[in-house]
Amino acid sequence: MRLDLATWQEVETYLETSGGIVIPAGSTEQHGPMGLIGTDAICAQEIAEGAAELADAMVAPTLAYTPAPFNMAFPGTMSVSEPLFEALVLELLEGLLSHGFDGIYFLNGHGANLAPLTRAAEGFAGARIRIRSWWEIEAVDALRKAYYGDWEGMHATPSEVAITQATHRIVPPGSAAKAPEKLSQDYIERHAGDRHGPAEQHRQRFPDGRVGSHSALATPQHGGALLKAAQASVAEDYLDWLAGGPQRG
Ligand code: NI
Repeated sequence: MRLDLATWQEVETYLETSGGIVIPAGSTEQHGPMGLIGTDAICAQEIAEGAAELADAMVAPTLAYTPAPFNMAFPGTMSVSEPLFEALVLELLEGLLSHGFDGIYFLNGHGANLAPLTRAAEGFAGARIRIRSWWEIEAVDALRKAYYGDWEGMHATPSEVAITQATHRIVPPGSAAKAPEKLSQDYIERHAGDRHGPAEQHRQRFPDGRVGSHSALATPQHGGALLKAAQASVAEDYLDWLAGGPQRG
């Protein structure tokens, strides 16, 4: 059930039988020549909504304005600072907990959200809050590796582009038809969680916005399969966790 399409009475009735809620977290930032600006938000939302339907869960509106300072030299990126995002999440959590939601599951689609989400969750000792990024789910990760191997890269990944192709539209590859520079394992490890440099420097280093990802390998068929696997796995994980899983995974 979508929270934004429910009435308050429906939410109150829902809370009589479940305290669980899924919150998708994405971003609004450039995703290379063929990736939509809303890619991260779209992926998180589509997965969360599909999973919520399977698990009979409430799903909140997507957190789409999040930190992406490193992409601010690309027009269309809308970024907020980490402290602002963390404060927003903190206040939203306070509200949800006060209404009786006691199992809050963030379905994340943007690496830079992880640190502030984790810090905000830590502000509520004893609350049941789980944070999962869709690409780390075992079944999804296996598909990503099978489809794209190393060409998955870090940003404007073929798997995220494939999901938006399945759900929204296909943009011709343009300059992304050519493979990008392949990143070393060392680079990937040092920049995990989107730890990228200042915006101008980031654009100079990755002029078309792709970070080691061969977006043009994406197909809507892949996207459909990734989406299905992610929705099913998230629904299962959410239900297991809600039924008595760990305090914080
Ligand atoms: Ni992304």
